[in-house]
Amino acid sequence: MQDFISIADIDRAKMEELFQLAADLKKDRNARQPLAGKTVAMIFHKPSLRTRVSFEVGIHELGAHPMYVTDAEIKMGQRESIYDIGKVLSRYVHGIMIRTFAHSNCTELADAADVPIINGLTDLNHPCQIMGDILTCIEHGKDPSGMVVAFIGDGNNVANSWVNAAGNLGFELRIGGPSGYEPNAALLEAARAKGATVNIINDPSEAVAGADVVYTDVWASMGQEDEASERRKLFMPYQLNTDLVSRAKHDAIVLHCLPAHRGDEITDDVMDGRHSVVFDQAENRLHAQKAVMVDLMGA
Ligand code: CP
Ligand code: NVA
Repeated sequence: MQDFISIADIDRAKMEELFQLAADLKKDRNARQPLAGKTVAMIFHKPSLRTRVSFEVGIHELGAHPMYVTDAEIKMGQRESIYDIGKVLSRYVHGIMIRTFAHSNCTELADAADVPIINGLTDLNHPCQIMGDILTCIEHGKDPSGMVVAFIGDGNNVANSWVNAAGNLGFELRIGGPSGYEPNAALLEAARAKGATVNIINDPSEAVAGADVVYTDVWASMGQEDEASERRKLFMPYQLNTDLVSRAKHDAIVLHCLPAHRGDEITDDVMDGRHSVVFDQAENRLHAQKAVMVDLMGA
């Protein structure tokens, strides 16, 4: 890979290779330092716990130096252009992770930079999240080609990356959410053109029925905070609660990318219940991203 910007840019074989590498790296976190002597910059336009910390720890464990570059200092696109930032950073560092609003910020940076760019979340997608998510599914005995995934809630960046993954891996993806909040139409079309089964099902019970994996995300994403109360009313029928999750398979797993708004999109009894593997999932961000970085920047 040259960059890691969207799951749609890679294929099934590359995903499988990355899952295997992530599993190997997870066995002994400090066994290998293939990025020794390198530096990876991390730019954040939005808040983060998991992405910030898992990248910083992962870069350190791979032998490289993680450099947090705040946008308060560099003011991307205001103090200087994205193009110039990409060119300048490429003279210092060996890779750049960026979390930003417009997806074009990420692709413009990749076009300018001479070093690999990793998408740590944009308004359009969140590919690192889905790599950790599917690694978690595999660890919990799910077949990434045969499983049924019910994504319940907002068809935003995380859902969009699940759509991309369905296009590559061939599992059945059901999107259960209110009309008007479906995933990106172009990404849906592209996944279906690759043969993916992605169904939009407005009834949450129907969407979850018999699923192997039940997933949710916040109802108001970063940047949509003003819409939170309006969205809460609209999305409440899609809350992951015990009743809804009981419609999935007996051995279904519940995933949430986190941060969770307990009591909104997921109840405490589901988040802390027997189906939930959300903290395994959060941990797997670390291992999956280390695999991505080894592939992009390893010696
Ligand atoms: N899931 C995730 O990306 O979490 P953060 O926003 O805390 O990085
Ligand atoms: N959809 C959420 C994901 C957070 C990891 C957001 O963009 O805020």
